[in-house]
Amino acid sequence: MAYHGLLDKYGTLLDLPAHTRPVSLLEGNTPLIPAEALSRQMGGGFELFVKFEGLNPTGSFKDRGMTAAVSEALGRGAKTVICASTGNTAASAAAYASRAGLKSIVLIPQGKVAAGKLAGAIAYGAQVIQIDGSFDDALTMVVQISDKHPICLVNSINPYRIEGQKTGAFEICDMLGAAPDWLCLPVGNAGNITAYWAGFKQYDSLKATGLPQVLGVQAAGSAPLVLGHPVENPETVATAIRIGKPARGEQALEAAEESKGRIIAVSDDEILSMQKMLARLEGIWVEPASAAGLAGLAHEIAAGNFSAGGKRIVAICTGHGLKDPDIIIKDMAKPQIVSPNLAALEEVIFG
Ligand code: F0G
Repeated sequence: MAYHGLLDKYGTLLDLPAHTRPVSLLEGNTPLIPAEALSRQMGGGFELFVKFEGLNPTGSFKDRGMTAAVSEALGRGAKTVICASTGNTAASAAAYASRAGLKSIVLIPQGKVAAGKLAGAIAYGAQVIQIDGSFDDALTMVVQISDKHPICLVNSINPYRIEGQKTGAFEICDMLGAAPDWLCLPVGNAGNITAYWAGFKQYDSLKATGLPQVLGVQAAGSAPLVLGHPVENPETVATAIRIGKPARGEQALEAAEESKGRIIAVSDDEILSMQKMLARLEGIWVEPASAAGLAGLAHEIAAGNFSAGGKRIVAICTGHGLKDPDIIIKDMAKPQIVSPNLAALEEVIFG
């Protein structure tokens, strides 16, 4: 049977109003890629899978929630959607709004959004507004303006975003036949960890698929859930999760506690070295924030805090490496330039 997108596949399991009018780019259905070499590199003895969410239509997991939120907004008669974003939500909102014939407005922290995300939002036709402040400032502003004007907020405060993102958990259970032992994922505004936990719980109650323990991972310079208080000036190379006041922080902490998992922080160096390792060992290139879940897993194993032996572990890699080419290019040795003849090429390759 042809694949028609997430609302067709899982719509009956999502709490969406009757007025919802599906807007889809055939999102979801992303691969669960076995990562044997990476698992060996971390010490081995466990099964590791990468759910590569960068293969969604706009290059990140945000499309799962956006198909639901924009479908609801369209059915309700909304004309405009708005979001604050570190980039991926912006690109996704812009694409789904365009497909639905709606206007989109996106607020981004000035100078802190990766090139591929900004370009996407512009290409899809959003009105892009840079805020001389943080993502947290931008989120406060979009909440205020959508309270006052008839503009639909599509950040993950919008409950339909969470409904859509539950499908990631459904897919994992469908592909593996059960929930994994552990789920590792990056945490920024904390919508995704909230959605995965809700999705696993729902599937378990329907199909007895079991529950994973959840390892949520923040960047050390933007780790309000680890520190236990908001961070005024969050900093990290993983700009997607450069967030100091997560909107769903309480629910993220609940997910960690209920699942007998935890939320930890890793350094920017750990994130970047995992990004590189994943690309070189497995051929999977993700943006820095997306490597945080795996960096957290490696950190816990190396620190002896985690007995991985015999476990089945799934890491959610949330966005494609192409979103943030600059992070690679800035440290790159410039490729050699060679005269256009065989002898010159042999000299460079064989010395
Ligand atoms: N990974 C990537 C690539 C992201 O873009 C985000 C969030 C996260 C992880 C964290 O997910 O917020 O649900 O905890 N990006 C948002 C945005 C904030 O605006 O694109 P979360």
